[in-house]
Amino acid sequence: MLQLDIQNILKKKIGSNNGISDLMLNNFCSKNGKLVKQVFRNKNKLGYDFLNLPDDSALLRKIKKFVTEQKRNKWENIIVLGIGGSALGAIAIRDALLPAFNQKPRLIVLDNIGPKYTADLFDDLNLSKTLFVVISKSGTTTEPMVLYGLAKERLMKKFPKNYQKHFVFITDPKKGLLRKIAKKENITTFDIPPKVGGRFSVLSSVGLVPAALAGVDINGLLKGAHLMREAIKVKHPEKNPALLLASAQYLLDHKKSKSITVMMPYSNALFKVGDWYRQLLAESIGKNKDTGPTPVNALGTTDQHSQLQLYVEGPNNKLIIFLRILKHISDPKLGDVLPKEIGYLNNKKMSIILDAAYTGTAESLAKHQTPNLTIEIPKVDAKNLGALFMLFEFQVALLGLLYKVDAFSQPGVEHSKQITKKLLS
Ligand code: PA5
Repeated sequence: MLQLDIQNILKKKIGSNNGISDLMLNNFCSKNGKLVKQVFRNKNKLGYDFLNLPDDSALLRKIKKFVTEQKRNKWENIIVLGIGGSALGAIAIRDALLPAFNQKPRLIVLDNIGPKYTADLFDDLNLSKTLFVVISKSGTTTEPMVLYGLAKERLMKKFPKNYQKHFVFITDPKKGLLRKIAKKENITTFDIPPKVGGRFSVLSSVGLVPAALAGVDINGLLKGAHLMREAIKVKHPEKNPALLLASAQYLLDHKKSKSITVMMPYSNALFKVGDWYRQLLAESIGKNKDTGPTPVNALGTTDQHSQLQLYVEGPNNKLIIFLRILKHISDPKLGDVLPKEIGYLNNKKMSIILDAAYTGTAESLAKHQTPNLTIEIPKVDAKNLGALFMLFEFQVALLGLLYKVDAFSQPGVEHSKQITKKLLS
């Protein structure tokens, strides 16, 4: 299971100006243990329904049947058309669990309307071997609808009689334009549970269908999420990983002015989990002028060479969350090839060098009194990824209660959409 190492946020390690005491953290967790119960009690209310996703065995069966049927088509490309919560989960799953290169089939997520990027992709696609997975809960979002329109036009030209078989829609069970089109054109659909919000939907059909089509072990994802949900039910609040994370983040923000949260995985595979988390935290908690830690993504070791200077010597206003992998699935080893000046690198596995870089960074930040905590992940597999998703979703639901904001709405993004619509109408 995942483990939290919080030594480097504590006063005894980084001093009282920037760290919090064991006592303060424990008392805060004890006092707010009731919020964990509140989240579980709310599990059938709007937004909180993400908690029930690991139990949806009917969905698992439906997805498996669908994937088996689709094998006949020998798809070479699975193209997700979606944005925000309808895209970032699939990207995170793909980068964590599928080969970085040479995926068969390729899982591509088109989550923007960049003209050149889109044109280049369409030029590259063999449409006869391409399945488009159009994902939109509202079924009306501009970006996926534009991309759907472009795909449909091309498919209809090429396959006027059966272009529909190149589409599957994932959307609200009743509402929205995609649902309407699906009915009219007889397109296969999967439902998004109405009480699950976009950014909390990775473990619903939204993340699971693309993942399963690309060959990911979706049972493992749900199993891990289920195990984490059970771990969060632990009796002692100060041992509860989601509450500990939420409390640390809240206290460091409120008491020590750490208003920026940097997520820094020491793993290419988990970099996009940082993107997914960035949306989760930003849209859920950024709700008024006083609340909302600003999420930032970084990658270890890459960003030691671009961001670390700022984190170490710049304004001390950040909490760094490291993701550390304990066992890497592939782990090339250096031979005795480098000159003696850097001979200390010879005969070492890459994981040893990567981990030494992580330790150096965490220790250096602690010495400079920058709070940092580490989530240790035994290895990057479906189970641990599912557990991570559940951990962070629960943490953010708790942050909503701590900051007293509605974690499940996003009214602030509507205004710009209205202006855009007016301009285009
Ligand atoms: O978290 C959210 O609700 C949003 O980020 C949505 O996921 C995003 O706006 C896409 O919405 P939709 O799935 O309705 O197209």
